[in-house]
Amino acid sequence: MQKLQQQTIQTTEIATAKTHTITDKKQIAPQITQIDVIAPDIATKAKAGQFAILKVHENSERIPLTLVTWNNKNGTITLIFQEVGFSTKELGKLNIGDAILNIAGPLGKPSEIKGYGKVAVVCGGVGTAAAYPIAKALKETGNTVISVVGARNQELLVLEPEMQAVSNEFYITTDDGSKGHKGFVSDVLKTLIDKNYGFDAVYAIGPPIMMKVIADVTRPYKIKTIVSLNPIMVDGMGMCGACRVTVGGQTKFACVDGPEFDAHQVDFKELIQRLKSYVTEEKSALQTHRHEGGKCRCQNQ
Ligand SMILES: Cc1cc2nc3c(=O)[nH]c(=O)nc-3n(C[C@H](O)[C@H](O)[C@H](O)COP(=O)(O)OP(=O)(O)OC[C@H]3O[C@@H](n4cnc5c(N)ncnc54)[C@H](O)[C@@H]3O)c2cc1C
Ligand code: FES
Repeated sequence: MQKLQQQTIQTTEIATAKTHTITDKKQIAPQITQIDVIAPDIATKAKAGQFAILKVHENSERIPLTLVTWNNKNGTITLIFQEVGFSTKELGKLNIGDAILNIAGPLGKPSEIKGYGKVAVVCGGVGTAAAYPIAKALKETGNTVISVVGARNQELLVLEPEMQAVSNEFYITTDDGSKGHKGFVSDVLKTLIDKNYGFDAVYAIGPPIMMKVIADVTRPYKIKTIVSLNPIMVDGMGMCGACRVTVGGQTKFACVDGPEFDAHQVDFKELIQRLKSYVTEEKSALQTHRHEGGKCRCQNQ
């Protein structure tokens, strides 16, 4: 693949670069990378809460990733991904100047951004990437935004200054106490609720177990709580059924009916169970698959 430049592509070059070319890439935490990609059709239509599905090359799996920011002027979108398995590691191998094969989006329903009043945005790990555009839109709409951002440790905190900039109050938690409050985001949320913060709504985005715990914290207080679900997705268009979730006893497809749902109605047990469906295949893909760009490299090793 043609390398346009080692460092960030300049604005003048973006105008002539091929669609889906990576124009910027930085590692923002261990195994977590931020990329800017040329995708003008997505950049002009994107709204907070939406996502894209991309394929790195012809033989790749489809990877759903949240649209973190978008720039109408130069037609780029920003994606943040954690390398957790084979496909995200493949994506991580691309550099500035390389092009992603295809990107579909924006997908999913946008967040319902309105004047709630006082909103808590609670996020964990790479879920902060999905929470950021929502917190920003809520703040721009005049809400008072109280953010609680968590990670396992200080190194894994992402978008800290960005989240702080769109928050009226900002709290950090780490599981090991290396920064901020030692413990979980749910502990801080419970403390704030008990201090009579009077939240009108809570947004919770992160690992399914974290979103379940937040739903359990807010349920007795009857605080409207919204979660962004991350089931396995394939087509992202409501046809394959892979992203089936149960909400309020009804089957919903997270890609077209969501990804945001009323946290108090979500069957988290089923979601967590379904996310584990392909663990054996995912592990074996990582361990035994030595393919790159669709061509076997085993004989070269
Ligand atoms: C709407 C949505 C938005 C997302 N946004 C982000 C984001 O902004 N940043 C980010 O790092 N991750 C995001 N994810 C999760 C990301 O898509 C998965 O981590 C990725 O697909 C894993 O693929 P893999 O081959 O690297 O890992 P694998 O080894 O295949 O799987 C690792 C784990 O990732 C999950 N996963 C695997 N395949 C899929 C799939 N097709 N769809 C969803 N989850 C899958 C499963 O829980 C699995 O156990 C999002 C998921 C959804 C549904
Ligand atoms: S991903 Fe296929 S129906 Fe949602």
